[in-house]
Amino acid sequence: MVHGRKILLGVTGSIAAFKAVFLARELMRRGAEVRVVMTAAATEFVGPLTFATLTGHRVYSDFTEDADQGTWTNHVDLGLWADLFLVAPATAETLAAFASGACSNFLQAVHLSSRCEVMVAPAMDLDMFAHAATQKNLLTLRERGVLVVEPGSGALASGLEGKGRMEEPDRIADAVDAHFLARAPWRGQRVLITAGPTHEPIDAVRFIGNRSSGKMGVALAAEWAKQGAEVTLLLGPTSIAPPAGCAEVVRFETAEELNALAQARWPEADWGIAAAAVADVRPAFAHKEKVHRADLPAAIPLAPTPDILAQWGASKRTNQRLVGFALETDEGRASAESKFHRKQLDCIVLNTLLDDGAGFQTDTNKVSIYAGANWHTFELKSKAAVAADLVAFLHPYCYPS
Ligand code: CTP
Repeated sequence: MVHGRKILLGVTGSIAAFKAVFLARELMRRGAEVRVVMTAAATEFVGPLTFATLTGHRVYSDFTEDADQGTWTNHVDLGLWADLFLVAPATAETLAAFASGACSNFLQAVHLSSRCEVMVAPAMDLDMFAHAATQKNLLTLRERGVLVVEPGSGALASGLEGKGRMEEPDRIADAVDAHFLARAPWRGQRVLITAGPTHEPIDAVRFIGNRSSGKMGVALAAEWAKQGAEVTLLLGPTSIAPPAGCAEVVRFETAEELNALAQARWPEADWGIAAAAVADVRPAFAHKEKVHRADLPAAIPLAPTPDILAQWGASKRTNQRLVGFALETDEGRASAESKFHRKQLDCIVLNTLLDDGAGFQTDTNKVSIYAGANWHTFELKSKAAVAADLVAFLHPYCYPS
């Protein structure tokens, strides 16, 4: 769930600041974009260059960037940029400042101007943490919606033992992950997606295929995973890499293989999304060896392949939803509506090769969506943006999980 999120990491003046380096690295390993804000005290423990090198972005710690030039750092922009403001380590001083609304350094100004949620990972000595004032500040922050990653117990920098050491970076990253999952609109929904072309063998080297790249299906899998769905991606022969965050990715070559995978998984799915360009026919007989030119037949007998989507439709339970795709070479609405009814769909996504930039191989697409009433037409966009539109469009059709 951390993948693709913008996390503003606030580092304050505690010896645990060194652990924030590992935290930044762990968040980035999970796919987050990380920017760092430090207090002056934090820079005494870890140099800003460490974070700047690690994240590839300058570190923010002061209002002025270049006093001579009159340039200043916009704390408002940083606050608006972030999906989460994570302060780790958060000292007793910073917690008190957050609770009272103080604005005496750059990090505190970012706190006051941020619109995203705030998470703090306190780090201090055990008596400071247990002090009534600190506990009152934490209560105030919690009541205000600030998320608190409780410190762990163990040896402290003072030589004492007790509760107060900042939680380990992995566990804080898990808390960030859980935070995004809890708010993800598609959490609990199991989405089964077919994507890519099929290759139907003629012999050991030749096949009947099509021009599908699988880009649209892969973009949909990425978007649904980002929105918290449990995604199973059945991906055909394509060089496009499957996205991060899928619960399961299974590769297939032929329509028959796809059908076996798709039907086995369908009973467990809440949604079936048929983005694959499945061959309608296959050679009735596939030679195991290469057939030499002189032996090639004048005609290749063909046999129909299973219609995967139609089978999903025929066995659909009332709480399952089905989305089909129609790629047409004409205006296409009548044909798409016929598929919508014939295959018992809840929604069909139409793209037509009449539109420049739509269809196979491209990085863009232009779609119209029909869910049984009106057609909704979208602009030409990147396939990632089309996927975001489609996933947002479908969300009201979810059953509560
Ligand atoms: N589909 C499928 N299995 C097939 C053929 C198609 O699951 N054997 C799915 C596609 O993934 C797509 C939808 O059905 O979501 C429509 O595909 P399309 O090829 O346009 O439909 P066909 O039923 O094959 O109709 P036609 O070729 O006559 O346009």
